[in-house]
Amino acid sequence: MKRLSKKCAIYATDDTIFVQIGGTITMKRMLSGIKPTGRLHLGNYIGAISQFKKYQDEYEMFIFIANEHAITVPIEAKDLRKNTKDLVALYLACGLDPSKATIFLQSDVSAHAKLGWVMTCMSYMGELQRMTQYKDKTAKGEAGITAGLFTYPPLMAADILLYDADYVPVGVDQKQHVELTRTLAERFNHRYSDTFKIPEPLTTKVGQKVYSLQDPTKKMSKSASDPKGTIDLLDDPAAARKKIMSAKTDSIGIIQYDPQDQPGLANLLTIQSVLTGEPVESIVSRYEGKGYGELKKEIGQTVFDFLTDLQARYNEILTSGKVDEVLKEGAEKASFIANKKIRKVYKKIGFTI
Ligand code: TYM
Repeated sequence: MKRLSKKCAIYATDDTIFVQIGGTITMKRMLSGIKPTGRLHLGNYIGAISQFKKYQDEYEMFIFIANEHAITVPIEAKDLRKNTKDLVALYLACGLDPSKATIFLQSDVSAHAKLGWVMTCMSYMGELQRMTQYKDKTAKGEAGITAGLFTYPPLMAADILLYDADYVPVGVDQKQHVELTRTLAERFNHRYSDTFKIPEPLTTKVGQKVYSLQDPTKKMSKSASDPKGTIDLLDDPAAARKKIMSAKTDSIGIIQYDPQDQPGLANLLTIQSVLTGEPVESIVSRYEGKGYGELKKEIGQTVFDFLTDLQARYNEILTSGKVDEVLKEGAEKASFIANKKIRKVYKKIGFTI
């Protein structure tokens, strides 16, 4: 750790800055969440969870289950309950450590809904109409789009701003929402005086968007119509290996990292690189002059081993009662911080008489 300033105690490691106040070091804060709308997939792991795990040692980390976002589309109560429990167990099985990261359920902290409404009232219709997810769904003429789907970006802003997060690790598809969060925070600060920290989105260099194995122009997603394109973290490992073996590639036949002309291959290389930690260039050079089949075999085995280990830990956690314990403790810690912030907001906007 290097001291940056002689006048005050500011230190830095490679990618973190610490400010020392009194006898303690204040860490930068990070916050992120995942919606429990379906089973988690490799895109969620690579774009989000693997980052949470990586950063939990260096940042003060808040990771939550965005269950209030999950009801923007219809979902059965029993499915939501199961997805929520699975998600916590998977967070832990993926290596999130509750002694380092505060893991909590959004609906356990009522300040999210409260600030969500305030942020909705800070947003303009035009801003929300420009949000990709809403725009895509309306462009496709989808029926039954809820008002919640339209106003969920301000709720996401509230999720972030309640905790004064410095960074928000997300996949690239969520960047637009973090940008809106910055706009809303600045607007509020301008209108009512300085209240919120302006957060920054944080995306990975490799894997900020993992694509469908069957259509590498589309992102891997929970709602994709072709299950062969998505590897769920709870897929049977042998079935997942088969999905890798049948992944769409191209007819160029040369192993190189070229997302433009060989998107399917680039996607596979990304998956292998994130799961093993081996840089993409190194994988490419090991496969010089070799065929796609051989590479797929190796990646299939990597995915098989990754899922087998992960699911063993997941099953153990689910039966251990740890999920309830972690959520109870997380709700207490998160509520303490969020309630303080909402009290401040209520005072500023004139709710507290
Ligand atoms: P959600 O649940 O759709 O996705 C959770 C995280 O996974 C990332 N992700 C991907 N990354 C790479 N490749 C993919 N194919 C892929 N698919 C998903 C997403 O970018 C995200 O980081 N609105 C959010 C949840 C949320 C949130 C927040 C996140 C609510 N409040 C506050 C951060 C901060 C969502 O729907 O993510």
